[in-house]
Amino acid sequence: MRGRRGRAPDGNVGRVLSIVSQKGGVGKTTTAVNLAAAFARRGLKTLLIDTDPQGAVRYGVGLRRGHPTIGFDDYVRGDVPLREVILPTALPWLRVILAGSVSDLADHSAFQERVAHSEVLGELLATARERCHVVVVDTPPGLGAITRRVLAASQHVLVPLQCEPLALQTTPQILRAIQDIVHQNEELVLEGLLLTMYEAGSPATERVVHYVREHLPAHLVFPTRIPRTPATADAFAAGQPVVLRTPADPAAQAYVNLATQLAERLGG
Ligand SMILES: Nc1ncnc2c1ncn2[C@@H]1O[C@H](COP(=O)(O)OP(=O)(O)O)[C@@H](O)[C@H]1O
Ligand SMILES: [Mg+2]
Repeated sequence: MRGRRGRAPDGNVGRVLSIVSQKGGVGKTTTAVNLAAAFARRGLKTLLIDTDPQGAVRYGVGLRRGHPTIGFDDYVRGDVPLREVILPTALPWLRVILAGSVSDLADHSAFQERVAHSEVLGELLATARERCHVVVVDTPPGLGAITRRVLAASQHVLVPLQCEPLALQTTPQILRAIQDIVHQNEELVLEGLLLTMYEAGSPATERVVHYVREHLPAHLVFPTRIPRTPATADAFAAGQPVVLRTPADPAAQAYVNLATQLAERLGG
């Protein structure tokens, strides 16, 4: 966000990539944080926005100063100006907007109402596009009002699919819903499904791979898969993206490869 206000970093408008899935616990936040870090490492000016009231991004993104609670919710409420919710990270090209005060509350319904009934999310993403190359948006599980608002203002969507049997029941649902939204937002491209927590040889992983091969067009599934590795979970627990903490780890390398493929599609 170093470009002049209202001016794209290099004369072009940036792209919004949202990470969406029906289920929780499938690797959305891990994917958002690691892709954002990998884009920033490539020299792309990147903003990561957490719209999930759980607010998990604050624990894993590698903030320079602890785990502040100020963020998106506080901006939506009109309590703070935009510049105050854009936080620096360990990477010069990566900034982050955390979920904010809502992540300290047990009840998220007022936040959902606020975001659903205001134009502020769409406006924020439009502003962010003017100042960054890539805006990565982490979303709450499911296709509720917040995620729909995010998708209405996105150009790209990626759907993590955890390699476990239950994933198969929810995948057709999310794909149908996203196809519906793609029809309403002609700018939006479903980039594909990303197999996460992949364990070669495990029966659960094999079932998911088989299902995906049988039921989905090949172009909708990324050839890059994210393996389940201890380093990925450890990095998150230590407050950092695995691509920064353990770059040689296979999951870190997979995220870097994915970022390279996506950067081409995003025009970076
Ligand atoms: N590739 C991976 N290897 C090992 N653990 C992972 C991997 N991806 C995610 N996890 C772990 O799985 C849990 C859920 O991931 P998370 O990204 O928070 O999912 P979501 O955002 O969809 O709820 C977290 O504890 C995370 O550390
Ligand atoms: Mg999450």
